[in-house]
Amino acid sequence: MISVKNLSHSYNKDETKAVNNISFEVQKGETFGFLGPSGAGKSTTQNILTGLLKLQQGEVTVGGFDLKKVHNERFNKIGVSFEQSNVYGKLTAKENLKFYAKLFDVETRDPDELIALVGLQGKEKVRAGEFSKGMKHRLTFARSMLNNPELWFLDEPTTGLDPAIAATIKDIIREQQKKGTTSFLTTHNMFIADELCDRVAFIIDGEIKLIDTPKNLKLEYGKKLIDIEYVKDDKIVKETLKTVDEHDKKRISEIVNAYDIRTMHSKEATLEEIFIEVTGRGLV
Ligand SMILES: Nc1ncnc2c1ncn2[C@@H]1O[C@H](COP(=O)(O)OP(=O)(O)O)[C@@H](O)[C@H]1O
Ligand SMILES: [Mg+2]
Repeated sequence: MISVKNLSHSYNKDETKAVNNISFEVQKGETFGFLGPSGAGKSTTQNILTGLLKLQQGEVTVGGFDLKKVHNERFNKIGVSFEQSNVYGKLTAKENLKFYAKLFDVETRDPDELIALVGLQGKEKVRAGEFSKGMKHRLTFARSMLNNPELWFLDEPTTGLDPAIAATIKDIIREQQKKGTTSFLTTHNMFIADELCDRVAFIIDGEIKLIDTPKNLKLEYGKKLIDIEYVKDDKIVKETLKTVDEHDKKRISEIVNAYDIRTMHSKEATLEEIFIEVTGRGLV
C-alpha cells in the first residue's frame, strides 16, 4: 500500500535533513509503526506521504499513486489524524465533521456516530474552540475516519490523552485493524508501538535504523537481560545486565559473590531498551 525508496527531505533545502534517505514498504492490512524520539522525522515523513509536504527527493507510492504525479482522488482513500489538531474553533464538533465530509467524493460516516465513538457524545453542538486539547485531538481523530479510509495515517494517536481515552483510541484502532485497514502510525511511545504495530521502524535523526516485528525484536534482544537488586553500604542498588555480554557476565558473578542479593529476575527487553541498544539514544 505504501512504498518509499530513498526518501529525503530538508526544510531549509540544504544539507540538514529532517528525513535522510529512508526506504520502507507497508503491506495491505498492515499496521506499520514509526517509533522514535521527538525530532526524529516521523511527522515529516507522514506529511510527505499524505501530501501536506511536497516530495523533494525519493520514489514514493501511496495506495498505488505515485507522489510525483498529481492525483487528487487519492485523498478519498486516505484518512489523516494529525499530531496538532486542525479543527475549526468557530464550528461545533458536528459542523466540523460535516464540513470535512463534504470534501470527499465518497460516502462518509455519520458525524454523530463518530463523535460518540471517540467519547464526545453530548458535545456535538459545542464549538471546538471550547474543547480541551485532548478533546480537539479526539475530534481530529474522528475526522480521520470520515471517509472509511483504506489507508490511515495516525500521528501520535494517543499522545496527551488521559489513559482511559487512550485506551478507547487503541480499541478503535484495533477494530479498524480487524476490518483490514492499512495504517501508518507514528509514535514516541513504545507501548503503542508494541501493542498496535505489526512491524516497527526505529527512526532517529531522520534515518531508519531497523525494521522488524515487535515479537522478533524481543526474541532477538529479549530474555537476555537480568535485573539484580543487592545491598551495598546499607542501600539497595539495582543494576540491569546482559547475560550475553562477557563484561556483564563477570559483573553478575562479582555481584553475586560480593553482596547480599535481594532480587534477581531475567526479563524481556522493552522496545525502548531495544531502541537504546540499537540507536544509542532513548525515546524522549
Ligand atoms: N516546519 C518546519 N520547519 C523547519 N524545520 C522543521 C519543521 N518541522 C519539523 N522540522 C524539523 O525537522 C526535524 C524532524 O521533525 P519532525 O518530523 O516533526 O519529527 P518527529 O515527528 O519525529 O518529532 C526536527 O529537527 C524538526 O525540528
Ligand atoms: Mg511528530
